[in-house]
Amino acid sequence: MTVFDNYDLSARNTFRMKVRCARFVEYDSAEELEALDFGALPQPVLAMGGGSNLLFTGDFPGTVLHGRIGGIRVAAETPDGGVLVEAGAGVVFDDLCAWAAARGLWGLENLSLIPGEVGAAAVQNIGAYGVEFKDVAVEVRCLEVATCARRTFRVEECAYGYRESLFKRPEVKGRYIVLSVLLRLSRAATPRLDYGNIRAALGTDAPAGPADVREAVIRIRNAKLPDPAEKGSAGSFFKNPVIPQEHFARIEALTRAELGPEATVPHYDAGGMVKVPAAWMIERLGFKGLKAGNAAVWEKQPLVLVNDTGAAAPEEILALERRIIDAVQEKYGIELHPEVEHI
Ligand code: EPU
Repeated sequence: MTVFDNYDLSARNTFRMKVRCARFVEYDSAEELEALDFGALPQPVLAMGGGSNLLFTGDFPGTVLHGRIGGIRVAAETPDGGVLVEAGAGVVFDDLCAWAAARGLWGLENLSLIPGEVGAAAVQNIGAYGVEFKDVAVEVRCLEVATCARRTFRVEECAYGYRESLFKRPEVKGRYIVLSVLLRLSRAATPRLDYGNIRAALGTDAPAGPADVREAVIRIRNAKLPDPAEKGSAGSFFKNPVIPQEHFARIEALTRAELGPEATVPHYDAGGMVKVPAAWMIERLGFKGLKAGNAAVWEKQPLVLVNDTGAAAPEEILALERRIIDAVQEKYGIELHPEVEHI
């Protein structure tokens, strides 16, 4: 275990905010975590993964905990080609995707290259290209902070929804720390190619293996998302809003009045409601590529806000966020909600 006081978090958050925490504790096993005297730590306590989906809005007065519980192992195989895989919460999620693809195991290929670690993936229900974490999850194994007891949640108990989970609910948040997850992957081919341009990027309807789909997804992501090594960001900054049909019809009418009767508004069915890509609205409002001091709206994917110069202060990102929320509200009557957690 490593412990630092007054710790600089800039290398620990992908937005590269130059902020500090009172204490930073990094543990290597569930046993080390269990042995921690939580009450004696500077409060509050924040369990963090790769820091790829959060925005520190200032110095953090408490303790940041980071787990390095590694390990990927096959726990069991089923006669129908199912492969149960356990992965430690500290495993880099894309390392797990690469591990599975290299072994011909289907299930994680669409989630390739999403930044962050396995534990955070389970909390956040990460998703991309028509697949979410919940689609492969079987169990999430946790430590309950108050009692130091181990607790296993079956996927049905995790209340997963679009970027939502039990672990994010206000009454549960912070109560559990993920130790490992159990996933169900498959030796039988289960390609999911229907989302967006994945089929076109792949160039075939019948990929030989999950590694082919993984490569296509990596190509798409690299073409439109900032390289984390070069530009600080936290991926999609906002969630895509889900609105009633009537509201969508009004947006469509507005767009046709502006662009002509043939104009279309991109959208997806969301169980009787309509999901509208926030990226589309942000682009229509002229924000794509906009620079605001040291912050900017990413030029190839406006759902992503970036620390453009590397010197952006939290206030600059927050001001840009506010501008976008206000503009979308005013024009489309939709309140955008950040996907990125504000700390
Ligand atoms: N669009 C534009 N202009 C742009 C880019 C996109 O109008 O410059 C419109 C297009 O109509 C496009 C649509 O937005 O079809 C959707 O764009 P994209 O496929 O890039 O996905 P997204 O809805 O912006 C979501 C996830 C991403 C995930 C992609 C692909 C959220 C909040 N984000 O973004 O997840 O990679 O779909 O599945 O749901 C993340 O969470 O950090 C993340 C990257």
